[in-house]
Amino acid sequence: MHNTQNVTSDLVWLGANDRRLALFENVYPIPNGISYNSYLLLDEKTVLFDTVDAAVRQQFFENLQFALNGRSLDYIVIHHMEPDHCAELAALLQQHTETTVVCNVQTKKMIEQFFDLNLPTEKYLPIKEGDSLNTGRHTLNFVAAPMVHWPEVMMTYDATDKILFSADAFGTFGALNGNIFADEVPFESTHLYEARRYYTNIVGKYGPQVQNVLKKAGALDIAMICPLHGFVWRKDLDFIIGKYAKWSAYEPEDKEVVIAYGSIYGNTANAAEILATKLAERGVRNVRVYDVSVTHPSYIISEAFRVSALVFAAPTYNAGIFVNTDNLLRELTAHNLQNRTIALMDNGTWAPLAAKQMADEIAKWKNCTVLEPKVSLKSALKKEQIAEIEVLADALVQALRG
Ligand code: FEO
Repeated sequence: MHNTQNVTSDLVWLGANDRRLALFENVYPIPNGISYNSYLLLDEKTVLFDTVDAAVRQQFFENLQFALNGRSLDYIVIHHMEPDHCAELAALLQQHTETTVVCNVQTKKMIEQFFDLNLPTEKYLPIKEGDSLNTGRHTLNFVAAPMVHWPEVMMTYDATDKILFSADAFGTFGALNGNIFADEVPFESTHLYEARRYYTNIVGKYGPQVQNVLKKAGALDIAMICPLHGFVWRKDLDFIIGKYAKWSAYEPEDKEVVIAYGSIYGNTANAAEILATKLAERGVRNVRVYDVSVTHPSYIISEAFRVSALVFAAPTYNAGIFVNTDNLLRELTAHNLQNRTIALMDNGTWAPLAAKQMADEIAKWKNCTVLEPKVSLKSALKKEQIAEIEVLADALVQALRG
């Protein structure tokens, strides 16, 4: 049975939710599911913007059939060739042999890589940055968004209704619950953290490319943003665009501290918890402590983009960094984290080496300051080392105020 919603009088949301998938991209936990959004424009010509993931194909095709109501499908615009959006392209083109594929050269190449469609050239309408397509009442302008977060990504700006189809940008983890508009939920308190986790983990590496797209978007009069995951934005666009401006500039949102510790038998955890208490005693609010073996790195990466100061505490393991901390730090390197203050604590029963190696990894991050002194435990925190934790807490407080 169809489950469509009108976005405007002639634009239909054909998306579908997956609440069964455990890991998005087989990496990121999605305890609240995920939505795959597809949109159908019903103008003199009909235009489908993207398809969906294979997991929700049945809902998608029922929605499409209902929304078309017997009309033919003139165009499919492909913004992004990742299979969570293009998986149903081959099936769609088998059902709708009348449809022309609107895409750029790179997308066409990827279509040929993913599928054996052998479409004749005339089935493609090649587009590039600055090209337009008139569909009757609407004029669609195409905007290149390379590396947000794949090279072929395009966005479409509907100049008639001032709608930006933004591909993955402005997406959010989490299924939609009937309400497809961000203004229909208390977004900041209930969904912002999942928008941040989505952005930072999926797109976070490509800050400069996102900034380029934001610059282009700044020149457009945008009344609505329709992303491929999560909510449609029709109010408070400055709020989410402002968040993207910060995240893509690697600018912290909050002058706060996140402590991410790894601990094998609880001794490093003990030092991390004591540091959290020392910070609280000094008036630092909203300190967050994470055990890297308990909390999935995607949550800590998201938090690392949010706050200005990070503490990593880790045992030495195989003469290196405790494995889950090592993984987290490498992930943060891969995601290009910048502009942070960092404090380090390590532990080692016979040769504490982790702090030096953590500092070496963090040295790859732009504009990050590693506070001195680093605290180094020998097996367990001793009374006489409390003073070192106090010094580290003072240095963090100073950094927060600076
Ligand atoms: Fe939602 Fe990059 O795919």
